[in-house]
Amino acid sequence: MARFHQLRVKDIKRETPEAVSVAFEVPPQQQPEYLFKMGQYITLKLTVNGEEIRRSYSLCTAPHEMELRVAVKEVQGGKGSVFINRNLKVGDTLEVMTPMGTFNTVLKGANKKHYVLFAGGSGITPMMSIIKSVLYVEKQSTITLFYANKNEDSSIFKTELEHLAASQPNLKLVLVYDAPKAQMPELQCGLVTKEKAKALVKASACEKADEYFICGPGPLMENVKVALEELKVAKEKIHIEYFTSVIEAVDKASELSGANVKAKIKVIQYGIETEFPLETTGLSILEAAIEAGVDAPFSCKGAVCCTCRAKVLEGKVKMNANFALTDQEVEEGFVLTCQSHPLTETVTIDYDA
Ligand code: FES
Repeated sequence: MARFHQLRVKDIKRETPEAVSVAFEVPPQQQPEYLFKMGQYITLKLTVNGEEIRRSYSLCTAPHEMELRVAVKEVQGGKGSVFINRNLKVGDTLEVMTPMGTFNTVLKGANKKHYVLFAGGSGITPMMSIIKSVLYVEKQSTITLFYANKNEDSSIFKTELEHLAASQPNLKLVLVYDAPKAQMPELQCGLVTKEKAKALVKASACEKADEYFICGPGPLMENVKVALEELKVAKEKIHIEYFTSVIEAVDKASELSGANVKAKIKVIQYGIETEFPLETTGLSILEAAIEAGVDAPFSCKGAVCCTCRAKVLEGKVKMNANFALTDQEVEEGFVLTCQSHPLTETVTIDYDA
């Protein structure tokens, strides 16, 4: 089960005028807990102007690099990203949750796969982890990365990617800019619409790849997903990291219908049971559990990060939205507690499962 530890900031590197990468020092006794898979993320607890906030950021390193490093792009008005870009210093200590996330696949040295990656803006962060992992573990696999940005200056890790692509024949890099400063082929200019995504895939012979990974702003992800579906790519081959981009969709989905049940909720965490009453139309199970004194894990509260995942051992709940759990996890009884409301008079939720 994921938990927070105090970690010291050991390095901050400016990647672009609007983005930094931050590395944390993990004491030897905590290193087993911070082992991660490619494409995973960590959640940071930050205190900004006296307010405690939590923000999740993808790791940009590969597991074999043994470094816990995230990249954070400053978002206008974004409390966490502005604080990290402008105020965080080497030597500061932050509460850092152990790594989570399912934006990955199992790598095997004998694989000869073709991976297609679509990244937009800071969506490149988990892709860096994936690219370096695949190149390290699967020497016979190939990667095509489509990386969309406003222009050359706003592209995080551009130089590192260009060096990697120049030295690694298995990596093909296709840069796409909304408004490039230099001359670019027409196909690589403009927003990644559905038609543009299809054209890019066809031009690089990526219709029959083994796995596809998409991470970036909401419209880009939706356009690429629909383009791949229209190109008859099987759903199971497509991995999407929905971070931060679908919160509005959660709001729209949050209207509950049906009967209002007055339930008795039992929450298990660290083996300790806590009980409290909750109505279907009341708080989410996560919020009610926190009010009842449970140290329940959460980050986005928007159905995307999966930090609040727990298993329903008894009863039924309804989730307003789910962009994080797989169909199999849902079948096995896992829910996002930040989205869950009781449908039966007794519900038992296990955070330790
Ligand atoms: S807190 Fe992120 S999915 Fe629930």
